[in-house]
Amino acid sequence: MFEESIVRWGTHSAKWDLLAADLGQDALSLSVADMEFATCPAVSRAITRACEPGIFGYTEVFDDFREAVRGWQARRHGWSPAVGDVHFFPRIVQCVSALCAIVLPGQLGRTPRVVTLDPAYGPIIEVVKRAGCELRRVPLDLSEGRVVIPEQRFAEAMRDADLLLWCNPHNPTGRVWTSEELDMVSALALTYGVTVLSDDIHADFQRPGRNGYRPLAIHSQQLWESGRLIQCCSPGKTFNSAGLEASAIVVRGVLGARLEEAKRLMGLHNPNFFAIPAAIAAWNEGDEWVDQLRERIDANLRVAVARLREELPLARVVDPDGTYLVWVDARSYLPSATLLAEAVARSRVAVSAGEDFGEQYEGFFRINVALPERDLERALERLCEAILALSVH
Ligand SMILES: Cc1ncc(COP(=O)(O)O)c(C=O)c1O
Repeated sequence: MFEESIVRWGTHSAKWDLLAADLGQDALSLSVADMEFATCPAVSRAITRACEPGIFGYTEVFDDFREAVRGWQARRHGWSPAVGDVHFFPRIVQCVSALCAIVLPGQLGRTPRVVTLDPAYGPIIEVVKRAGCELRRVPLDLSEGRVVIPEQRFAEAMRDADLLLWCNPHNPTGRVWTSEELDMVSALALTYGVTVLSDDIHADFQRPGRNGYRPLAIHSQQLWESGRLIQCCSPGKTFNSAGLEASAIVVRGVLGARLEEAKRLMGLHNPNFFAIPAAIAAWNEGDEWVDQLRERIDANLRVAVARLREELPLARVVDPDGTYLVWVDARSYLPSATLLAEAVARSRVAVSAGEDFGEQYEGFFRINVALPERDLERALERLCEAILALSVH
């Protein structure tokens, strides 16, 4: 399992047919965060079953979806939210949009002030900006390859903020936040009355022996009970099913009702035909497959971090606690976006450029290691060779 190289050209893939199109047929891609592994057999079976009648009409969300969310959270993460607190959204990005463009402005009578840590996942930042919010981006301290929250700056940003966009495990650094960091976040949110959206889309990829993932909701009961904590869960990364568009937004009380109303305003009623059966199969039947996947990812991360550190000793390579992503500060070699683009073209290996996560990250890049190990090794070899050939050193 996880060894077959699957050809995805011609599937309307954003990662391949758009972003790797200029690199030629022997391109390898370490960019967009979907995996090069076929999904769990239970998910494929659910989709095949759904196809059988040959009718692709409107679908609806029932308690079997909400129960599947609760079951997965309870078994995997020790959290058992009430079924009534689970809300379907096609995508987490749409939930952020509903919150920033509709729910919070309606509540506050003005545009919201939003805090996030940098580097940050670009499409969420885009949504916040397009909603006209005041965006406060607090840069993480990334010196020495560590990932540290600058506490004072973070606390200042939170002081009169309306929303914290929290991401755990963090994309792109792969950091899983410690109990102390979660304590700090919940204390600040409670003190200043800030709503927290915890985007935990990468939650299932924690690595053995590293900081363990815990949902903020169980870490801070008080924050959860305040009704100002939104937990975002998704099978999208875990089961390589992002294109099916299913996520679960878990929140107590009136904020959940407001998000449901905003969803209607956005015209997001009736999920994609395959979203619900696939999500239910994933969460009810996917445990064993995910356990095996996590072993593969952990092994690939070890390969990638070791290789990058050996070949590019002047780069700062973050060894992640979770996710299948590695964040690299390669400014010592390729200080500009143009040089990185040249290395990508020369190696025919696509990566995600640092600027996608904040404009100050020129010379950084993110790689995705969720591909067969043989392909990962070939990609790293080609990429490092091109970086060294173009290096300013
Ligand atoms: C941190 C994070 N949040 C959200 C998303 C996108 O989620 P969705 O497709 O449900 O909007 C991604 C995708 O890469 C991500 O990394």
